[in-house]
Amino acid sequence: MLQLLPTVRVLEAADVVAAYGWPRPSWVRACMVMGLDGAIAGPDGLSRSLSSPADRAVLAATRAHADALLVGAATVRAEDYAALRGQLEHVEARHEAGQRAAPVLAIVSASARFDWAAARFTASDETVLLLTTSAAPQATRREAVEAGCEVVVVGQRSVEPAAAIGALRERGLTRVSCEGGPGLLRQMLAADAIDELDLTLSPRIGGSGPAVPGLPGLTRMVLAQLLEADGWLFTRYVRPEVPAC
Ligand SMILES: NC(=O)c1ccc[n+]([C@@H]2O[C@H](COP(=O)([O-])OP(=O)(O)OC[C@H]3O[C@@H](n4cnc5c(N)ncnc54)[C@H](OP(=O)(O)O)[C@@H]3O)[C@@H](O)[C@H]2O)c1
Repeated sequence: MLQLLPTVRVLEAADVVAAYGWPRPSWVRACMVMGLDGAIAGPDGLSRSLSSPADRAVLAATRAHADALLVGAATVRAEDYAALRGQLEHVEARHEAGQRAAPVLAIVSASARFDWAAARFTASDETVLLLTTSAAPQATRREAVEAGCEVVVVGQRSVEPAAAIGALRERGLTRVSCEGGPGLLRQMLAADAIDELDLTLSPRIGGSGPAVPGLPGLTRMVLAQLLEADGWLFTRYVRPEVPAC
């Protein structure tokens, strides 16, 4: 992979992890891949068809030292999120930094309806957090607890982004990577809850979108880093007040 900004250099695998460090101990990044036409999923409805091996390496790098992955329920279902397990190459560094072996999967859902037999619930290293509302059906909340999840009520009818981040921070999960989908990302951006947007521009056209539907206002972010591999561009946009990553 080639780094184009802030300086030009070739990146080895370990450099890619270092290129996605966490500027502050409390930090919320969002990660998305988007086609040239704004598509967020290919014709099969999956983001994987817009992705590439280098993009998956970038996603792995954003996860390497994350405390929690914050994900919308539709994305968890559509992308069939796998169990989150500690990665051998990162476990030691995570322990030294006082982190758990693997990131915690934190799912945002109003319905709390899932296939509780899925490996993400039964085989993740850490307890899965279900961030939901007091209006979620008692029966499905009970099923979540029986499946080993921690159910966290953060709102009456809708999970509020700030409350969701607050619930994670209360549990010591301060380095949060929001992996979408667009519906959740729109709410996070609208609530000014995102410090960094890692947007991969995929050289593909076709599929469904857009990446962020209808935001209420305009926000200016600063391009802190740009990587390239085989025509895929990997951007790191951060808040203007953050000088370097
Ligand atoms: N290109 C990419 O990088 C990328 C990344 C992620 C996803 N995707 C794609 O995006 C699509 C899914 O995205 P999406 O925008 O439709 O859905 P999403 O944001 O992943 O999930 C929406 C669901 O999350 C729950 N939810 C969201 N906000 C909530 C709130 N404030 N309070 C309570 N629950 C809330 C609801 O779940 P319940 O229905 O359970 O109530 C809602 O139906 C899929 O096709 C996926 O493949 C692409």
